[in-house]
Amino acid sequence: MTVEPFDAVDVIRAKRDGGAVSEPALRWMVDAYTRGYVSDAQMASFAMAVFQRGMERDEIRVLTDAMISTGERMSFASLGKKTVDKHSTGGVGDKITLPLAPLVAVFGVAVPQLSGRGLGHTGGTLDKLESIPGWRAALSNEEMFAQMQGDVGAVICAAGSGLAPADKKLYALRDVTGTVEAIPLIASSIMSKKIAEGTDALVLDVKFGSGAFMQDIERARELARTMVALGTDSGVATTALLTDMNVPLGLAIGNANEVRESVEVLAGGGPADVRELTLALAREMLALAGQPDADVEKALDDGRAMDSWKAMIRAQDGDPDAALPTARETHVVTAPADGVVTRMDALPFGVAAWRLGAGRARAEDPVVFEAGIDLHAKPGDRVTAGQPLFTLSAADEARFPRALEALEGSWELGDQAPETGPIVRERITA
Ligand code: URA
Repeated sequence: MTVEPFDAVDVIRAKRDGGAVSEPALRWMVDAYTRGYVSDAQMASFAMAVFQRGMERDEIRVLTDAMISTGERMSFASLGKKTVDKHSTGGVGDKITLPLAPLVAVFGVAVPQLSGRGLGHTGGTLDKLESIPGWRAALSNEEMFAQMQGDVGAVICAAGSGLAPADKKLYALRDVTGTVEAIPLIASSIMSKKIAEGTDALVLDVKFGSGAFMQDIERARELARTMVALGTDSGVATTALLTDMNVPLGLAIGNANEVRESVEVLAGGGPADVRELTLALAREMLALAGQPDADVEKALDDGRAMDSWKAMIRAQDGDPDAALPTARETHVVTAPADGVVTRMDALPFGVAAWRLGAGRARAEDPVVFEAGIDLHAKPGDRVTAGQPLFTLSAADEARFPRALEALEGSWELGDQAPETGPIVRERITA
């Protein structure tokens, strides 16, 4: 019988009382939890202690590394190309990965975009792409490698279960124990998967505001700094942008409609905020790949990014020219009076889209590709009485009442346009 070198209760007490946990004890805690020796109750108690007491930079580094050690580490070293990935902390209408990955690949950089499915009000990149007929999210490591090495260069696919399995278990536990919002735990969770993936460089889109994990910019800044430090300490060149998620991004919230909007951006059009953020993140990614002067606007406008998108979709058996699903039932909300849209809170719009069927409540639920919300006006736009403000789409009209309930009080008309800042507020580097 193996003798365990530590007691979970001692590790919990040390953190509960505000001390730093030693490297061997922390590594053991993560490993023993993954093996099932440390119980869910003990790990939940430890997570709550971290939530209350925080962690020092070195502890967060060790925690992240310990989570990486529980699974496989991928390597793209033999690819012969620079690899750059992007991670968003999640928001409403956040489809940026779709135009971004093929845009960056235009410049000969490989983009290993391992993505997830949505849970709750934030959508998942894979759910959006699966609305394209034939498109396949599950790729073997060999298929992923071949797609990145060849002419396509960009790949968006499901992250295998082999990367940081400790995180999978811990994240599910945090979800049900009120310990999701702890910065050391979020940072180590995100970065363990990204570092294990083996990318050379990483750009983080850290969101703040009503539709984000972090409501206020100060907490988002702290999260960004923590993740940039973790990436840098592990040899992954990492930069973060702090971006505004108070208002839904773009005009489409859902799955198929977000693909449609992404294709508009790839065709050189689309909503200004989606284009602006896509370009800002592409510039950061290419700067980390050694191409700070790449003309990303030109690549969007001259059709090269669109060609790259079509190649990426076809490589995963999707038909980029096929019609996307459209909703059977729609419900239009109109302006009750003349005025200017002064507010549209991202979170309730995300919740409403989810209730319409665009998202899932349980990991095993399917999503309805055509469900979601299309906005016809955004804060700052002037509207007249009776003009459509937004359209709800669903497979079944029984979905509308609860979605409308979520939207009560979430938008406002007034006399004066609200002050709006740029979508990218700050840039955080090592
Ligand atoms: N995304 C993750 O992968 N982990 C977190 O803890 C939060 C968001």
